[in-house]
Amino acid sequence: MDDELNLSSLMVDYSSALKILKTELEILSDEFEFNHKYNPVEHIKCRIKSYDSIIDKLERKNLAKTNENVVNYINDVVGVRVVCSFIPDVFEIVKIIENSKNIKVLDKKDYINNPKDSGYSSFHLIVSVPVNLSTGIKYVKAEIQIRTIAMDFWASLDHKISYKFPHPNELPSKVINELKTSSEIVKLLDKKMAELVGIVNDIKIDE
Ligand code: GTP
Ligand code: MG
Repeated sequence: MDDELNLSSLMVDYSSALKILKTELEILSDEFEFNHKYNPVEHIKCRIKSYDSIIDKLERKNLAKTNENVVNYINDVVGVRVVCSFIPDVFEIVKIIENSKNIKVLDKKDYINNPKDSGYSSFHLIVSVPVNLSTGIKYVKAEIQIRTIAMDFWASLDHKISYKFPHPNELPSKVINELKTSSEIVKLLDKKMAELVGIVNDIKIDE
């Protein structure tokens, strides 16, 4: 493979994988809605990692700037975020993806049962999707983040407040501690909402 970085030559693979993954997830969620008369997905957001973020990540990982290192070690050039309503919906979506024939799960991280020290909570899957090109099938890696709206609220704001802060060591402890406390409040809200929808669903089943 190339011994230098030429990201534009990889972009057909990445943008195709993104389209396939998005369509695949929409189909699986439509089918789920048809079968269960319930849609667990609030929305799906997709992005391709920017050139600068790819370079930053290679530097952070002390990797030489080559296409081979991007393909082998940067798993989140293609990123899809599935935002669900309730915590059980997140695990339902994980199960559906794991059972999908087209999406192969390579790795998973459960930051819902094991939140990060920051308070970050979400379920991550690293997957591989087949892209059918004229030269043959290429398997392209992608990161899927699955979380509730409440977790998404916390993560999106944390991203702005602390995650991208240029000097993490200088982040005031008040900010670190109160972000963590806020994540615990978010967790309580998620639990409460799951409990409330459970009560209502039980009534619907009895009717
Ligand atoms: P990155 O190098 O940051 O991608 O980490 P990683 O490859 O070790 O993967 P990890 O599962 O830790 O995190 C992947 C992604 O999850 C990040 O790119 C963020 O989008 C998100 N993430 C992880 N930790 C945090 C956090 O503390 N706050 C926020 N807002 N997002 C986070
Ligand atoms: Mg990332």
